[in-house]
Amino acid sequence: MALISLVLALLLTYNIALIVHRLYFSPLAKFPGSKLAAATGWYEFYFDYWKNGKYIFEIERMHKVYGPIIRVTPDELSIHDPNFYNEIYVTESKRRTNYYDLYCNGIDFEGAHILTVDHALHRKRRKPLEPFFSRMNVQTLQPMLAEMTLRFERRLRGLAGTGTVVRLDHAAAAFSGDIIARICLDNMGQGCFLDDPEFSPHWYNLIHMLVRSIPLFKAFPVLIRNAGNKTGTTSQATATSLFHHIAQSDMPESERSLERLANEAQVLLGGGTASTARTIAFASFYILDRPDIRAHLRTELGEVMADWPRRVPSWADLEKLVYLQAVIKEALRFVFPLPLPLLSYGVMHRLPRISPDQPIQYGSYSIPPGTPVGMSAYLMHSDPTVYPSPSQFQPHRWLGRIDPSMNRNWVPFARGSRNCLGMNTRGNKPLPGGLASAGWAADGAVWHGRERRGAGA
Ligand code: HEM
Repeated sequence: MALISLVLALLLTYNIALIVHRLYFSPLAKFPGSKLAAATGWYEFYFDYWKNGKYIFEIERMHKVYGPIIRVTPDELSIHDPNFYNEIYVTESKRRTNYYDLYCNGIDFEGAHILTVDHALHRKRRKPLEPFFSRMNVQTLQPMLAEMTLRFERRLRGLAGTGTVVRLDHAAAAFSGDIIARICLDNMGQGCFLDDPEFSPHWYNLIHMLVRSIPLFKAFPVLIRNAGNKTGTTSQATATSLFHHIAQSDMPESERSLERLANEAQVLLGGGTASTARTIAFASFYILDRPDIRAHLRTELGEVMADWPRRVPSWADLEKLVYLQAVIKEALRFVFPLPLPLLSYGVMHRLPRISPDQPIQYGSYSIPPGTPVGMSAYLMHSDPTVYPSPSQFQPHRWLGRIDPSMNRNWVPFARGSRNCLGMNTRGNKPLPGGLASAGWAADGAVWHGRERRGAGA
């Protein structure tokens, strides 16, 4: 009994000392913000765990009360100042950037480059992937994208008039999952998720739960081992697979271990699929729900879809369609792909970055090296001074001459040396095709109040 009391007393003293240190002696003590948030990580935990990921809204509230720079946990700062975004999310030429190790712990994706804390190791792991995602490499994907887009549209259209309720998020995850799987590992089967009568709800659940011990994910090492077989015949298909590309690159042997590449594949496949799928699902909802958007889109698509399905428009064709591009831009502004506190593929989260060896100067505040500091794209994208009525889906806001602050605030893919690798080229390619298919298939859709029925709905 006496021992228990002693342990409790020691714990209490330790915690009081820790809180006093955090509030008065920590290098972050001078930064504004809620004392509770500065004193304990339980404050964030309460909002993110008990309130289902709502700490971002509390951060928004705290910024309103305490100003543009605040302490959001005992060890971390948040800035809300769009003019400072490019100073936090910097390229390598400006400053080194470490990842916040708290965001990697316990996720068990050891070695995946996105979760690599150290700047230099992250560069080493990311560099071999860059040429694969380059625009020059783009043409190789066209036939596969055309095939998947046709399949997607055919599946949606095939449901017209059947009264089937379609989960758009499942359909979009099946579509983008099939594409990303082929980009990463070209031999994962022919359109397996889209072919499922219910659009593979298990796949959707899997990527949202980040569980990896199912047969699909277990198969990765085998696929990667095959990809790594340099002596095998190189078909045209293998030349387009990301993991063949990595396995056959001049990356050091230590970086090509099966375990690391399997983790890399899982994060890419899960993250790339979830964010793209969510964007397609949200935009498809508005295309279906809003006759004005649907009418604009269908008029614009008319020319490039004239020979559909004999000819599927290319990515370059779709890139020229200003209204479709406006729908995509607005969807990426509006959609918050993954509000998960731990795996930050979405724009909702504050995505902290660390300058390991240089202080960052923000106004009169000097942020000590080693401090995680983030800026949430959610706050940037919902700024009413830049995007009037920010909670309304308005593709029109992107048409014609736009205020430069709209582009300044638009950061769905983050920026700097750790920005989204898939943003310009391959990763983003399912978006135009997926939305064009949804828009095209939508003519047979019926949208009954809260019920979703018919093709593409
Ligand atoms: C709408 C679709 C997408 C959105 C909004 C998106 C957004 C983002 C964001 C915000 C980050 C930074 C994450 C962080 O700092 O923790 C990121 C990183 C990344 N994304 Fe995407 N992404 C999308 C699609 C894709 C796709 C399809 C791929 C590839 C197949 C991809 C590959 C990556 C990679 C590899 C990184 C890590 C980059 C690095 O750390 O060097 N993304 N993405």
